[in-house]
Amino acid sequence: RKVSLIGVPTDVGAGHRGASMGPEALRVAGITQMLESMGVEVYDRGNLHGPANPFTKPVEGYRHLNEVIEWNQLAHDAIYTELKQGHMPIMLGGDHCLGAGSISAVARYCREQNKELRIIWLDAHTDFNTAEITPSGNMHGMPVACLFGHGPKALVEMSGHVPTLKAEMIRQVGIRSVDEGEKHFIHQAGIQVYDMRYIDEVGMRHTMEKALEGLHKDVHLHISFDVDFLDPEIAPGVGTTVRGGPNYREAQLCMEMIADTGLMASLDIVELNPALDVRNLTATIAVEMVQSLFGKNTLVRV
Ligand code: ARG
Ligand code: MN
Ligand code: MN
Ligand code: MN
Repeated sequence: RKVSLIGVPTDVGAGHRGASMGPEALRVAGITQMLESMGVEVYDRGNLHGPANPFTKPVEGYRHLNEVIEWNQLAHDAIYTELKQGHMPIMLGGDHCLGAGSISAVARYCREQNKELRIIWLDAHTDFNTAEITPSGNMHGMPVACLFGHGPKALVEMSGHVPTLKAEMIRQVGIRSVDEGEKHFIHQAGIQVYDMRYIDEVGMRHTMEKALEGLHKDVHLHISFDVDFLDPEIAPGVGTTVRGGPNYREAQLCMEMIADTGLMASLDIVELNPALDVRNLTATIAVEMVQSLFGKNTLVRV
């Protein structure tokens, strides 16, 4: 398997500075060596170069709109290039606004290849805000809405087909913080959300069985892994921590069940914020999670 790492060092979509250091922290935590140990051929493409974070206030509901668009276009182009070459892209974010560009590239590719697309969105948040309903103006809270056709034109149209996603193409897992307007909007959109209440009641195993239902060999499975999916006790290095997330074992099981499908074809790792981390612990745990996504097993599997 050939994997390309694409660093997208920006925090223009976030409310805290620091996610721009995520790519390097993941490299320091040994993401390349880990993947190589899993038998993967790794091409580290280095980091993309985009606009600085002006750190200004929101304008008409969007903070840093132009910068967010620019970074997303760069990410889209880089990820699309890797997919065309037959490599599995791993985007090292960067904040989650980049999910719009990354998934737009994947959707564009799938449309051309006549592949069905399925996204597993691992996150504490649904990221389904718009300029009208956002409490913060931070665009890392908006990528899913953009992919569903609600947001700035440049992002909404980035995949070449509007809307980029339909409800049946995405499952959200680990959700425990949804803003008031967002709550109604996500319900209207008909997205399947497996929130923490659901996971508490039926367990991670059944949750993932449901979330992964209906896959077949012609599906391109994309994982959007917002590190704040993890409980902050094990992953403090994110800007928007929310208590009550999956613990280490639950998260590990989630990743292992995704690996078992054998269908993961692209991955985003976003929201890691080394400025808020403790001795790179969160990056290290994120790398361990990715190792499980690549099929790490304790025992020989029969
Ligand atoms: N819902 C909040 C907002 O829109 C937080 C979003 C956090 N998103 C993230 N990708 N960490 O401001
Ligand atoms: Mn989040
Ligand atoms: Mn909020
Ligand atoms: Mn997110």
